[in-house]
Amino acid sequence: MSDTPEVKYGRPSAAPQLETRKAITVPEIRARKGGEPLTMVTAYDATFARMLDEAGVELLLVGDSLGMVVQGNADTLGVTVDDIVYHTRAVTRGARHCHVVGDMPFLSYQVTPEEAVRNAGRILAQGGAHAVKLEGGAAIAPTIARIVAAGIPVMAHVGLTPQSVHALGGFRVQGREHDDAERIFADAVAVAEAGAYALVLEGIPGELAARITDALAIPTIGIGAGVHCDGQVLVCYDLLGMTADLRPKFVKRYDDGFDRVVAAARHFCDEVKQRAFPGSEHTFAMRKRPVSITGT
Ligand code: KIV
Repeated sequence: MSDTPEVKYGRPSAAPQLETRKAITVPEIRARKGGEPLTMVTAYDATFARMLDEAGVELLLVGDSLGMVVQGNADTLGVTVDDIVYHTRAVTRGARHCHVVGDMPFLSYQVTPEEAVRNAGRILAQGGAHAVKLEGGAAIAPTIARIVAAGIPVMAHVGLTPQSVHALGGFRVQGREHDDAERIFADAVAVAEAGAYALVLEGIPGELAARITDALAIPTIGIGAGVHCDGQVLVCYDLLGMTADLRPKFVKRYDDGFDRVVAAARHFCDEVKQRAFPGSEHTFAMRKRPVSITGT
């Protein structure tokens, strides 16, 4: 053996950047049943997706609630598959680690199972989502089975289903009466048996959500459904207190986003009017002219 150290040619490679957080997968979401609660927040653009991802939110939902909070409509019914694909693409560009779910809009899955599979496929193939969510119970279960058979994970949604706002007579809590609670329970069982990997429970009494959560093998994610679900979801503008007029009982506002944005924008307006903005630190200067040697 020679005493000379072994010569290694070429540049050493940089230390590998180990990614400590990875997007949570469908099997991992299923495995969280009964374990640490899942966190899901809605997102509609790359900037919010990036911030929510940074905060450690595990699932981002590109909800059709965008029809209300982004487009300014009174309900979600006017949202199209093109809208969801467009916003999902923005969210998947901004998110680094989150599992992204694209919502299937009104009439994109109710007419025929074939259309449902095609539209769900667009949300994955063109939007880059990992899964789709759709509203409905036993009546939509065969369609869920068809989408799942095409290899597309489906998150189901029962209870207060906003696409049925007119049939329900408004955005009202569901399942307070015994028969209604039994119907919602049967809906939850039907969508789980059809192959949904998770289930959103919206606007139902806490006792009913707990009973459904106990009965199903898949995780439940609640919104206005009490603390016993396997996870919780909120609309990001609600969570941040950015909605001016809407203050539903089930929403906890973690910030005063509306007041803070108004105050910041008002400050900008004042500074512009007083010529305090832009300052020299925000202003470009011209390059200095080169000094002439001959003095000409
Ligand atoms: O569209 C949406 O944001 C939703 C959540 C409220 C669950 O469906």
